[in-house]
Amino acid sequence: MTDTPADPIYLDNAATSFPKPDSVYAAADTYMRQLGVAFGRGSHTGTSDAARLVAQCRQRLARILDAESGERVAFTFNCTDGLNLLLRGVLRQGDRVVTSTMEHNSVLRPLQQLKSELNLTLVHVEFDSKAGLVDADAFVRELHSGPTRLAVLNHASNVTGIVQPVEAISAAAHETGALLMLDAAQTVGHIPFSVRDLNVDMLASAGHKGLLGPLGTGMLYIRDGLEDEILPIRSGGTGTDSESLLQPPFMPTKFESGNMNMPGLAGLNAAAEWILQQTVESLHGQITTLWKQLSHELRHISGVTVYGDTDLQNVGIVSFTVNGMDSQDVAAVLDQSFQIRCRAGLHCAPLVHRTLGTIPAGGTVRLSPGPFTVQTDVAKAVEAVRQLAASLQD
Ligand SMILES: Cc1ncc(COP(=O)(O)O)c(C=O)c1O
Repeated sequence: MTDTPADPIYLDNAATSFPKPDSVYAAADTYMRQLGVAFGRGSHTGTSDAARLVAQCRQRLARILDAESGERVAFTFNCTDGLNLLLRGVLRQGDRVVTSTMEHNSVLRPLQQLKSELNLTLVHVEFDSKAGLVDADAFVRELHSGPTRLAVLNHASNVTGIVQPVEAISAAAHETGALLMLDAAQTVGHIPFSVRDLNVDMLASAGHKGLLGPLGTGMLYIRDGLEDEILPIRSGGTGTDSESLLQPPFMPTKFESGNMNMPGLAGLNAAAEWILQQTVESLHGQITTLWKQLSHELRHISGVTVYGDTDLQNVGIVSFTVNGMDSQDVAAVLDQSFQIRCRAGLHCAPLVHRTLGTIPAGGTVRLSPGPFTVQTDVAKAVEAVRQLAASLQD
C-alpha cells in the first residue's frame, strides 16, 4: 500500500488568500449559473438583483473601512489597477510626491513612469532596517520641505508585514496641504482601521487578499468630494447617462467603465459578509497568534534570520533567510520535501531588500498564514525550516 501524500500547507496568503470561506465559492457559482447578467445594463429583474448585490458589497466594504458610505467605494480588478487609476488620475505636470522605499512595484513603477511623463519630483523616504518602519520623522520633514501634491505609503509591508506609521504622516500631509494615499493591499480585512480616523484621502486594496474574495477583484476608496480632483483614466460605457459623451462625474461610476467582474463581486460580497460576521478584530487576533508562534520559533533556529521588529503590529507575515542558501532554493525544498507552499524572492518590493541587505540571498522566504491556517500547519512549517537549517550545518 502506498502512503497518501499529505495535503499541502498553504502559507502564501499575502499573495492571495486561500482557501476562501465556502460562501464565496457558492456565491460566485450561483451568480454564473443562476443570474449571469451584466451589472447596470438592462432593466429586467435580473439586473436589479445584480444592482442590489453590487450596492450591498459596496456597503459592506464601506463598513469594513469605516467609509462615509458605499458610494465612496469603486471596484477595480486588483490593487494594482486601483493604484494606477488613483495615481494617474490625481497627479499633474511638475507635482512633487513623497513616498517610501517600503513600496511595492505597483506604486514604484507607475510613479517612475509618471515621473518621466509629468516631470514629477519623487522622494523615497528610507525605512529603518532593524525595525522595518518607515522613518516617520524624515517623511514629515520631506512633507514640510516643499509644496507636495501627494504622500503615498504602503500601509503594511508585504515583505515584513509591519504596519506603518500612518498617523504621523497623515497629520503632516494634511498640515502641509498634501493628499494622503494608502496602498492597503495587505491591511484591508487584516487589521481593523478607519479611513476617517486616519484621515485617508484615497486608498486602494485587493479584494482577493485579506478581504477573501476571488482573484480579479479589487477596490478603491476616495474621500467624500475628492473625486472632482481625480481624472477618470478609464472612460467608457457605465450603463448610466448614456446620452452624454462625457464620463459621469460622480462616484463610483466615474471610475467603473465597462462590464464588471460580477462573479468575482458576488464572491467578494459573500466574503465581506463573512468577515463582518467574524469581525476583523477577531480574524486579526487569530492570525496574530499563529504569526507570533511562527516568528518566535523561527527566530530561535540557528542560521535563520527573521526580518523586522516582532514587537510591532503585524498583519501576519514572516520574512526570513537561511544562512548559506538562496531563498528560492529554501522555498523549493519547503514545497517539494515538506508540501509547504510559500513565496520567496523580492516580493515585488526591490527597494525593501536593498535596505534589508537581502539581495545576495535572493530576497526572503515569506510565510503568511490566513484565517483557515491551523496551529499544526505552523508547527510543521517551523519543523521543516529547523530540519533544513540543521542540514546546512552538518
Ligand atoms: C503592498 C502591495 N501592494 C500592491 C499589491 C498588488 O496587488 P494586486 O496583485 O491585487 O494588484 C500587492 C500584492 O502583492 C501588495 O502586497
